[in-house]
Amino acid sequence: MRKIIVDTDPGQDDALALMTAFGAKEQLVVLGITCVAGNVPLDLTSVNALKICELSGVFDVPVFLGSATPLERKLVTAEHVHGKTGLDGTELRVRNKEVELTSAMDFIIECAEKYRDEKITICALGPLTNIAKVLTKNPGVTGAIDEIVLMGGGFFEGGNITPAAEFNIYVDPEAAKIVLDSGVKITMLPLDVTHKTLVQRDFLEKLRKSGKNSAREAAKLLDFFERYDVEKYGSQGGPLHDPNVIVYLLNPAIYKGKLVNVEIEINSELTRGMTVVDWWRVTNRKPNAYYINDVKDDKFFEIVLNKVLSLEI
Ligand code: RIB
Ligand code: CA
Repeated sequence: MRKIIVDTDPGQDDALALMTAFGAKEQLVVLGITCVAGNVPLDLTSVNALKICELSGVFDVPVFLGSATPLERKLVTAEHVHGKTGLDGTELRVRNKEVELTSAMDFIIECAEKYRDEKITICALGPLTNIAKVLTKNPGVTGAIDEIVLMGGGFFEGGNITPAAEFNIYVDPEAAKIVLDSGVKITMLPLDVTHKTLVQRDFLEKLRKSGKNSAREAAKLLDFFERYDVEKYGSQGGPLHDPNVIVYLLNPAIYKGKLVNVEIEINSELTRGMTVVDWWRVTNRKPNAYYINDVKDDKFFEIVLNKVLSLEI
């Protein structure tokens, strides 16, 4: 059983990642959800996290407010992909859940201290601002973090918010640099692998026909989310990015990658947020991330479907 904290900027794909984690009770204990500004501002990502918990019938996982802006940069959001609310595609409501008073950063530090022996895993689905703040404020926390598994970056696939950069890294490149320089074990799931998990028609149909409200609503979220990517990539379905972080924890054997050095561009405006991956080890830079570039996509969708359909409601 892994104890995980999900740091997130919901976002429809973040929603599917959270639902997959909630449905994997036999393998994952979700200690809490820490929200960050990214796809939409923090006041919306936090409400969206509450909505996803209620949609999933999960009321015992605390939700915390994190950073409303990147460490140094002006916030860049992605309403063009996720819609004005960040969860366009359906109307979700929050009736019985509220955010906690503790800050996201303090919660992560408290968990690291409480579970120092067992260690915790941080699943990062958005810009890395919260995590960078924790690592800077309390460097000793690295000893209590087993692994940071993050969706972010791209190399062979280029970028999705600029030709050079993937959104999560682009929004806060300084934070990404702090995380990659931290010495914590890092597994990266970049566009090179998430562009191989394109939403499949039969996957959506099985969600719709499941007889479960949470699965039906998830299908509506994905219908909205993938319209932008299908137009952009001309593919049969949009890339389902964030659930790869959770599925990797549940079944790493369906993924392939390499331990390499990854540096973050923070100086050039043209290539801001680019993940410079020394895939062919042409430098003597120290490897600092397990960089994943392949997945068995059928297995990926099988796991996401199985976990989402195991939700009670
Ligand atoms: O580039 C894709 C990433 O940016 C995903 O995490 C998506 O939710 C957005 O945050
Ligand atoms: Ca996200």
